Amino acid sequence: MSVLQKLDKSISDNAKREHWPGLIESYRSWLPVSNKTPVITLQEGNTPLIPVSSVEERIGRNVKVYVKYDGLNPTGSFKDRGMTMAISKAKEEGCEAVICASTGNTSASAAAYARRGGMRTFVLIPDGYVAQGKLAQALVYGAEVLAIKGNFDHALDIVREIASKYPVTLVNSVNPFRIQGQKTASFEIIDSLEEAPDWLCIPMGNAGNITAYWMGFKEYFEAKKSKKLPRMMGFQASGSAPLVLNTLVKEPNTIATAIRIGNPVNREKAISAQKESNGIFDSVSDEEIIEAYKMLGKEEGIFCEPASAASVAGLLKNKNQVPDESTIVCVLTGNGLKDPECAINNNDSIFNSGIEANIKTVAKAMSL
Ligand code: F0G
Repeated sequence: MSVLQKLDKSISDNAKREHWPGLIESYRSWLPVSNKTPVITLQEGNTPLIPVSSVEERIGRNVKVYVKYDGLNPTGSFKDRGMTMAISKAKEEGCEAVICASTGNTSASAAAYARRGGMRTFVLIPDGYVAQGKLAQALVYGAEVLAIKGNFDHALDIVREIASKYPVTLVNSVNPFRIQGQKTASFEIIDSLEEAPDWLCIPMGNAGNITAYWMGFKEYFEAKKSKKLPRMMGFQASGSAPLVLNTLVKEPNTIATAIRIGNPVNREKAISAQKESNGIFDSVSDEEIIEAYKMLGKEEGIFCEPASAASVAGLLKNKNQVPDESTIVCVLTGNGLKDPECAINNNDSIFNSGIEANIKTVAKAMSL
């Protein structure tokens, strides 16, 4: 073999090795799957951990801040981590249809994975409170969408009952396989930082994701893959903050429709994560959420959805408590493209329309 051929072969071997097969294959030994489990994947996971200097500067004190940009998953949210597991296990058990309640992202992800696995997908959503992009996804992926006159909490009550009476598998985060899949985000963070962060900042809705992250951090810690555990910092929108207020919220409201939830089903597990990790639950106003959302877009080139920006808003609100020299990860749970209406209505950019199509007027409009 010539030197060039050898070089070629080594490049293609590397490319093969670096090909990411999705998170079930990548973390198989950490997940409840066997050789009999049909792996239904869109090669989710392996999302980037991006340093965000604009947030670091606002905190000061030599802090390292990263965002775990899970909006880069195949359907644009962290739900894909849970769904590859939930749908693969449903398929293994011979299930033919799945159901979920959703503020949007779960429905998009459930539809994509279930349809890929050849199953029917029923989604219940709060009529009028799901961002356009998410609804578009559920429809394109072939879900049967039922928009109810009620909020997410009502929808979840209904789907839980339906799943207990009819042959449909529930794929909300009460399904334990969802949490199993989602815990891999913690593994990825430790695999890339070679240690757990000091703080993990995360938005909370139904509180499945904070539960999953904590499970992942604990498992890696017990396996000595990290020497420490992070403090779990969970943030909710102030109009929709049952975990912060420690009470049910009958009529939750926030611009961050993804986390417009008043009765989180994983309440107890989230409270354990907070207590065991010496974490903090706090709320952020819609204004604080939008400020963080705009900052990430225009200063970092990162477009997340409003619910995701709650993690950064929460960190900034609590910046005086951040220890010197610490490492912080904020989870950006969903892609900004999901909610174009919010983006169009909340930015500081210039949009001049109706400009005559000639150089002179364009240059004038550019103030040149
Ligand atoms: N961020 C986004 C973008 C979400 O879509 C959700 C939940 C959360 C955060 C909160 O995660 O519920 O595990 O605490 N969305 C669900 C849905 C409820 O139906 O898509 P959680």
